[in-house]
Amino acid sequence: MIIDGKKCSEEILENLRKDISEYKEKTGKVPGLAVIILGNNAASKIYVKSKIRACEKTGILSREIILDENISEEELINEIEKLNNDKNINGILVQLPLPSHINEKKICEAISVKKDVDGFKAENLGKIMLGDDDGFISCTPQGIIYLIDQLNMDLHGKNVVVVGRSNIVGKPVASLLINKGATTTVCNSRTKDLAGILKKADIIVIAIGKAKFLTKDMVKEGAVVIDVGINRVDGKIYGDVDYENVKDIVSHITPVPGGVGPMTIAMLLKNTVKAFCKEELVNGN
Ligand code: GUN
Repeated sequence: MIIDGKKCSEEILENLRKDISEYKEKTGKVPGLAVIILGNNAASKIYVKSKIRACEKTGILSREIILDENISEEELINEIEKLNNDKNINGILVQLPLPSHINEKKICEAISVKKDVDGFKAENLGKIMLGDDDGFISCTPQGIIYLIDQLNMDLHGKNVVVVGRSNIVGKPVASLLINKGATTTVCNSRTKDLAGILKKADIIVIAIGKAKFLTKDMVKEGAVVIDVGINRVDGKIYGDVDYENVKDIVSHITPVPGGVGPMTIAMLLKNTVKAFCKEELVNGN
């Protein structure tokens, strides 16, 4: 069965649209998201465009800030500071990757913790480990968990294998799965006997950026496969899973495109609305 991330994300966006319209009536305000993009990276431009379009659909005010790729770290931090102090902006996202002269960690940490809707700051990543849902959960891991939740599986006693150990996906999604009681193994493309470990998995989450890496000899019959990869090969997009090869032996699988990708954007908007509610509805100012 195909897990339809596009449809699921559209339902989330529609619910957000209704909520935002109510908040507008109540407070006279709408959530605001600022997206900073440096230079001309084609893939980044496509991602940012999708984020802005989703904002328009839901009624979130979006502000796209395009900066020169040669901007200094200090100037970029100044731009972020301005947005940290801007009452109309609830969420700030700096599109990654950044040029090599800029320290990504320093930039992520410059964003106010209240506006870190990407969930990349140490404080928000730490809250995931602690199972504290007061912070912002990074968007792709949150989207993956949302899709798994839709399957109504009890994760206690289930073997989940995460392939990939990035700070953006592998590590946070593993923490979220551990918090749900799953027996969670984190591997990478160079793990010894990776196929043997994967073959025992009830759920596989793969995020390694290698097109069609996962083949059916590595997958247990009836397993759930979540494909986080977005790999461009000869102008076409492939996931980390050899979809055609694997699809007939699994119980559920996410397609690429149309699986995890749209969920990431939906969770970004959800986080932005959460930031708005914390500021405007809890503080009442
Ligand atoms: N580049 C690729 N994915 C992401 C993301 O989720 N957030 C940011 N800020 N940059 C990205």
